[in-house]
Amino acid sequence: MSAAAGEGAIQVPVIAIDGPGGVGKGTLSRHLAGHLGFHLLDSGALYRLVALGAKEQSVALDDEQGLADLGRQLDVEFRLGADDEIARPVLRGRLVGEELRSERCGDDASRIAGYPRVREALLARQRAFRRPPGLVADGRDMGSVVFPDAALKIFLTASVEERAQRRYKQLIGKGIGVNLAPLLGEISARDKRDRERSVAPMKPASDAVVIDTTTLGIDGVFEQVMKIASERGISGP
Ligand code: C5P
Repeated sequence: MSAAAGEGAIQVPVIAIDGPGGVGKGTLSRHLAGHLGFHLLDSGALYRLVALGAKEQSVALDDEQGLADLGRQLDVEFRLGADDEIARPVLRGRLVGEELRSERCGDDASRIAGYPRVREALLARQRAFRRPPGLVADGRDMGSVVFPDAALKIFLTASVEERAQRRYKQLIGKGIGVNLAPLLGEISARDKRDRERSVAPMKPASDAVVIDTTTLGIDGVFEQVMKIASERGISGP
């Protein structure tokens, strides 16, 4: 085990769920965490929160050191409200809602995620989510960089057309008017940036199980992952 993963951390199983945007990582991770009674890390939210914090505190999106400082000092906690299924981020005392999920925020997050110092600043914060009885970690580099000793590493894929369709339906369902063609272009551009960056590029860890979700519904993916998890002796408390 790498020293960075923390002493005793091996006792706490991690399920790493990686893959591009719109592939179903978030839904799968929530189902798994709920079913197993594990904690949940939405690492993308941390990158989005840094992007949002930068806007609020007038830190330029090309100021690598300023962004890294912000990431290290980010005054955020995740709180579970009475009706919440998942914990919500509270940034400097204010509950952050839909603005975190906007395409704009995702795009800003993807730009700042290319800076090595920003990634380094968020590393310890992400690893601190690893607490008993276990953790489901959702992101791009959970299995390859943040939790290299994860008990199970899943990398989800789906065609870019299918992911754009899913995102389109999600936005239309929320009453947000969008066009499919530009959405597809934005998703492709973000994929390319995430895949080609020099530090922690999005790619399956060498020991990851790759699952194509293009034609597989969430129930099918969930069953497949739970089967592998149980074969590896990963179970809830
Ligand atoms: O998953 P989500 O869309 O919320 O992530 C927003 C952006 O944050 C991604 O496009 C990616 O650039 C970055 N990210 C990352 N590493 C992670 C999670 C997210 O670089 N582990």
